[in-house]
Amino acid sequence: MKPVGAPRRTSPGALTELGSRFTPMAEHPVQDDIDLLDGRWYARHPYEQWAWMRVHAPVYWDAKNEVWGITRYHDVLAIEKDPATFSSRRSPRPHGDPLPMMISMDDPKHTSRRKLVNRGFTPRRVRDHEPTIRRLCRQIINHVCERGQCDFVWDIAAPLPLLLIADMLGFPPESYDDLLTWSDDMIRGTTVGDEVAIRKAHEAGMAFREFQLGVIADRRSKPPGDDLVSVLCYAEIDGERLDDESIIQESLLILIGGDETTRHVITGGMVALLEHPDQKEFLVEHPEALETGVEELLRWVTPIKNMSRTVARDVEVRGQQLREGDQLILLYPSANRDAEVFEDPDRFDVTRKPNPHLAFGFGPHFCLGASLARLELKVMFEELLRRLPDLHLADGAELPYRASNFISGAEAMPVEFTPVAPMSTAP
Ligand code: HEM
Repeated sequence: MKPVGAPRRTSPGALTELGSRFTPMAEHPVQDDIDLLDGRWYARHPYEQWAWMRVHAPVYWDAKNEVWGITRYHDVLAIEKDPATFSSRRSPRPHGDPLPMMISMDDPKHTSRRKLVNRGFTPRRVRDHEPTIRRLCRQIINHVCERGQCDFVWDIAAPLPLLLIADMLGFPPESYDDLLTWSDDMIRGTTVGDEVAIRKAHEAGMAFREFQLGVIADRRSKPPGDDLVSVLCYAEIDGERLDDESIIQESLLILIGGDETTRHVITGGMVALLEHPDQKEFLVEHPEALETGVEELLRWVTPIKNMSRTVARDVEVRGQQLREGDQLILLYPSANRDAEVFEDPDRFDVTRKPNPHLAFGFGPHFCLGASLARLELKVMFEELLRRLPDLHLADGAELPYRASNFISGAEAMPVEFTPVAPMSTAP
């Protein structure tokens, strides 16, 4: 209904505003404070606004940030499947600079890069990690089980993914605390307006860079090993080795992809189970249902809030004219609540099947670590539900949420449970 000659980017609120002269509006219209790049917006869990956008403005123009927001499942899917029109050649963050990492590339460059490390993440190779994952889960739970209380985020959810991915990358254990701090600080800086968080993110990026240059020098001084940094140091594409910057960025992507995501599904998944005690009870009694349960936790939590694409040629999507160079973001949590695909999408159902959620994206950039994340989640919830079945939020506990426009979840989660004795860590 855009009148001819009108500015090409009509605010999606414009028609509603006009309509409001005739229809009384709620005091705070649902679309009022949509801000696609403000981390605080995501921390407010804007499901109501995503539902409004899916119906009224599925291709939403955020004029302040100059970015399009795509909220419907089928649109997200179509865009993921069409990299010739919706390119990854810039950055996974809107308006970001291109970086020498696979997620910032289109094919064929993207595939050459991804192939270098893909072997370590196939479902079969990942299955080999199950005994290690189970041992780590048991150690993590042993560490707190006699206390009867802990901070679920920092004592349980965050360590597992970090320990695994840092080990796969070949980083020394004495660096693990720093790696967690740096990757957290980098993600806390993915917002607008919070200058302190943005500065700390920059400093963390520099510190990681310095550290990684040391690791690269060490790997190059040794014969090829099978840790991922060594693989990247010795890999060749068309007869050429990767430069330092490419190795730094590629391993940072794997580190953050590995340690800043799965943990939020452990935390957010546990919150969902506590809010739906019948579902939790069902999984305690039927741990085999974690096969579908893990998929529902992924759909429900969807820790990566969006990925960005750059429009590669002028194109119309649902009546909106997108121009070459425009930035758009694919809002995965919204797609995962789209009633066109998910029956009763706001119902949390650990037996939901089929469950074609987009928490891992789709298409050429489909998450490299999806099999690893699924296995971590399955084993962690098996161990938690068996050993701490009455775990619950501490009285008066608050769940502060990370204000990130990229990956978010709880920053703290005080919980209590009946103390139990440590157990053998042997699988
Ligand atoms: C629950 C956990 C995880 C979630 C929800 C998640 C989600 C995602 C999403 C949405 C994408 C972008 C897909 C797209 O653009 O279509 C992605 C890409 C990626 N993820 Fe994950 N991820 C998780 C765990 C991991 C883990 C454990 C790793 C460790 C290796 C990892 C590494 C990557 C990498 C390297 C990419 C870029 C792939 C490419 O560009 O080809 N992720 N992930």
